[in-house]
Amino acid sequence: MRINYVKTTPFNDQRPGTSGLRKKTNVFKTDNYLENFIQSIFNCLADKRALVVGGDGRYHNDKAIDTIIRMAAANEIDKVMIGRGGILSTPAASCVIRKYGLSGGIILSASHNPGGPEGDFGVKFNTANGGPAPESVTEAIFRQSQRITEYKILNMGDLGPLDIEHTGKSRLYETQIEIFEPVSDYAALMNTLFDFERIRLLFKTGFLMRYDGMNAVTGPYAKSILEGILGAPQGTVVNGEPLADFGGRHPDPNLVYAKELVEAMYSPKDAPDFGAASDGDGDRNMILGRGFFVTPSDSLAVLAANAHLVPGYMGGLKGVARSMPTGKAVDMVAAKLGIPCYETPTGWKFFGALLDADLVTLCGEESFGTGSSHIREKDGLWAVLFWLNIIAARGLGVEAIVRDHWMRFGRNFYSRHDYEGLEPSAANLLMARLKDSLPGLKGRTFGAYRVESADDFSYTDPVDGLISTGQGVRIVFEDIKRLVFRLSGTGTNGATLRVYLERYEKDPGLYNLKPEEAVSGLASVADEIAHIKTILKRSAPDVIT
Ligand code: G1P
Ligand code: ZN
Repeated sequence: MRINYVKTTPFNDQRPGTSGLRKKTNVFKTDNYLENFIQSIFNCLADKRALVVGGDGRYHNDKAIDTIIRMAAANEIDKVMIGRGGILSTPAASCVIRKYGLSGGIILSASHNPGGPEGDFGVKFNTANGGPAPESVTEAIFRQSQRITEYKILNMGDLGPLDIEHTGKSRLYETQIEIFEPVSDYAALMNTLFDFERIRLLFKTGFLMRYDGMNAVTGPYAKSILEGILGAPQGTVVNGEPLADFGGRHPDPNLVYAKELVEAMYSPKDAPDFGAASDGDGDRNMILGRGFFVTPSDSLAVLAANAHLVPGYMGGLKGVARSMPTGKAVDMVAAKLGIPCYETPTGWKFFGALLDADLVTLCGEESFGTGSSHIREKDGLWAVLFWLNIIAARGLGVEAIVRDHWMRFGRNFYSRHDYEGLEPSAANLLMARLKDSLPGLKGRTFGAYRVESADDFSYTDPVDGLISTGQGVRIVFEDIKRLVFRLSGTGTNGATLRVYLERYEKDPGLYNLKPEEAVSGLASVADEIAHIKTILKRSAPDVIT
């Protein structure tokens, strides 16, 4: 075994976004592409004690992990921990980094984007707090990637790839290698937060649940925790095997892509009591009752309002946070609890700073992401267990819990309209014109909607004072109605425009409106203000969630 010093030249597109570096799989398979990026990470590492490496099992996961381990050894990382089989959910990686005080972690995933040779691949670097690297770090990595001339990798000679299928410790060159069971530490953490005994009793009474692993990373976690530790019947977890192409599915737990689960939950005769799913890398969640969908914005609010029933949060919440486009249901709960509610730009890293400073306990995004101070990532299965704990403690079903919530706090109707695969020039034009029109919008009336304020959201981090500008256009109407426009930062196919629509109601007579009916007026106003149909030449959104 010896170290190879391989000459290379920079790629110009290795600037990590909010969720790491995400590209088409073929791009990552280009010679030196992954190696350049990984070497750039290592060149920025001041602390080379120990890293955890793992991924969501998608196509190319195994090859990438082998490359990273050999590069870690060549770069004199003292210790590398690897989830057995290369499997590690994003939340579990965060958990392991924090539990063992590691220097950081490398997670291989493109989250909820499809995998496979034609799909997406990604590399995310998390720092010692267990959260995604802050912009100062990702920018430093990007700068390294722009001047890289060489990377280091261990030449294994005839040894072939390292065996990562069996747990145990070994040595590779000077680096200590530990292959560990990817579920254990995570399950132990969940046991400290939730009343497992009570949930076990719930399942004993015949409570039926369906958890869809979407053939992504959470299958093994869900099987071990729900069916193993909590005694849910075998078969509770479906599509529980992580597959390289996610079984051809788009591993995004929403009403469109988790169709199988939605059909089962809306089945007239044998729908289970509780349904849930998670995404490719396990940080997102979708919550369903029998014939009932819980919007992520409502889910965050329900968790906050019921946190006192859950052992890990009985001591009270420090505060809550939601991303700006997320519905304001949690704001109402925070007001009642008398705790602060922070509004941050989209992306989990902004929550990380608030969590590190102990300013908030729960946080969430409308995009099916919910989490807490237990780690520094959003956490799909955690949200599911939180719901199970509330259901068990209150003896009520999902729908009853949410309806009771609306009676106490009012209902925030919420919908997101995505226009995907757009010409970037058209999407940019729409946003530019919209921003230009903002100063003239205040006080104007569109049908029944009168504009109270209109701005391009900018955020001053309360911890480090850093200002993030251009975080999405928000147009607020009288009576707590709102439109938000922003371009996606995570897509890999052209540009995506996201339009977020929200309307608050406190008349129980209106609670049974369908969300799309409730926001249809706002949708027309969105088109009138932003000229969606004419500029994008689209008659309807591609995805409504
Ligand atoms: C999307 C979501 C955002 C989330 C991110 C990473 O980003 O909207 O809430 O933090 O994925 O999971 P976007 O594509 O909108 O930039
Ligand atoms: Zn994800």
